[in-house]
Amino acid sequence: MTAAPPAVTTADVRLLARRLSAVVGDAHVLADADLRAPYERDFTGRWQGGSLLVVRPADTAQTAEVLRLCAGAGVAVVPQGGNTGLVGASVPGGDARGEVLLSLRRLDGVGPVDPRARRVTVGAGVTLAALQHQVRPHGLEFGVDLASRDSATLGGMAATNAGGERVVRYGTTRANVAGVEAVTADGRVLDRLAGLPKDNTGYDLAGLLVGSEGTLAVLTRLRLVLRTRPPRRTAALLAVDSVAAAVAALEPLRRLESLELAEFFTADGLALVLAHGSLPAPFRTAHPVYLLVECAAAHDPTEELADAVALCAAREVAVATDGGARRRLAAYRERHTEAVNSLGPPLKFDVTLPLPELPRFVDELPGLLAGRARAVVFGHLAEGNVHLNLVGAARSDEEPLARAVLGRVADAGGSISAEHGVGRAKAAYVPLTRGADDVALMRAVKAAWDPAGILNPGAMLPSPPPPGARPRPA
Ligand code: MLT
Ligand code: ZN
Repeated sequence: MTAAPPAVTTADVRLLARRLSAVVGDAHVLADADLRAPYERDFTGRWQGGSLLVVRPADTAQTAEVLRLCAGAGVAVVPQGGNTGLVGASVPGGDARGEVLLSLRRLDGVGPVDPRARRVTVGAGVTLAALQHQVRPHGLEFGVDLASRDSATLGGMAATNAGGERVVRYGTTRANVAGVEAVTADGRVLDRLAGLPKDNTGYDLAGLLVGSEGTLAVLTRLRLVLRTRPPRRTAALLAVDSVAAAVAALEPLRRLESLELAEFFTADGLALVLAHGSLPAPFRTAHPVYLLVECAAAHDPTEELADAVALCAAREVAVATDGGARRRLAAYRERHTEAVNSLGPPLKFDVTLPLPELPRFVDELPGLLAGRARAVVFGHLAEGNVHLNLVGAARSDEEPLARAVLGRVADAGGSISAEHGVGRAKAAYVPLTRGADDVALMRAVKAAWDPAGILNPGAMLPSPPPPGARPRPA
């Protein structure tokens, strides 16, 4: 049997705090419970856990030193960006001995925009909104956009390979990160920042770190791909009969090269958003399902969008061309998360279904849930990415509900983790869609980068079976 690692004593924490203070300054080592609290609880209130200390380095060199000191003290580290994650990947709680929470928010420098290479280098703590603000005057934009843009940081988005609303056109964050700088668990700095369009020298370590949820290394800087910002935009909200009708509408819509976004939500979710945000309804009557689409191009895309919408069997359509009207339509979709949250910490599922399976999955939910929770469903339709939020479930029902939902997704050939990450929320369910060899290879990758298991313990990988455990019969 392997010996349990020694406990971290109060004296150890004090000594570590002193050493960390010498690196980042006293003001950036938070030992006081009140100061640590906002970092220790996630946005939904579902995930929270006490840290030993919160440490806020200012740059890569300080981050490397922090990791060296924590590794030397044998203390685990949980990296955190804007703390907008939804799967417990960036709040402490994975190591019973306690963890240091490493906040990357002070790494918030934006380098010069290079309009020829169409690249910019940013610190991991730069928010998406700040990046958008910096690149817009150059007629450029970052391809990924999401509702939490004001708080979500590029480091966190890269660590989770965030998707968001424009994947149909620009792909997920991985497709928009050209290079990274990262610090390993023992404090070495890996420089893969060049972000050259052509560079096949060895394994794609930058691509591997994107989506690794802080389990392999800590991202400190990112070289980002920028795109031409299309100047003309038109949005439309379509009311349709069913999820199947919304999926069918994707066929004419996806013929449009200008299509940038295709999102869906239901009558129940919209009613919640309207009540929570005191918003006016988009139509005089409620409809079962809504599809929000947006096109962007150098030319005015209104006419081509109208032609495609005419083929979509919509009951009613609202069109918006100016910025204010588009934002009002977008709010019906983007404000779902906060509206759901207002009902109490939801049980969140972020799954992908193959498109032909998606309508049946949504239609069968009432049977699957059997009255044990209220379901609010919305998501990124073009990718088959469903955000299923369950509210009001009894604690004792949560695990059976998760098994039922994720098992159904796996049986349909879907993914149990579409864009929010695996975190601690889904780690136990990874074997539903990843075989034993696959998990063993992922564990080997983790062991190569972080042999002491210091980085983000409990996130992403299912716990290994206890030593000597027999495989369970199928
Ligand atoms: C969204 O698409 O709005 C986000 O993924 C957040 C959520 O799922 O609640
Ligand atoms: Zn989403």
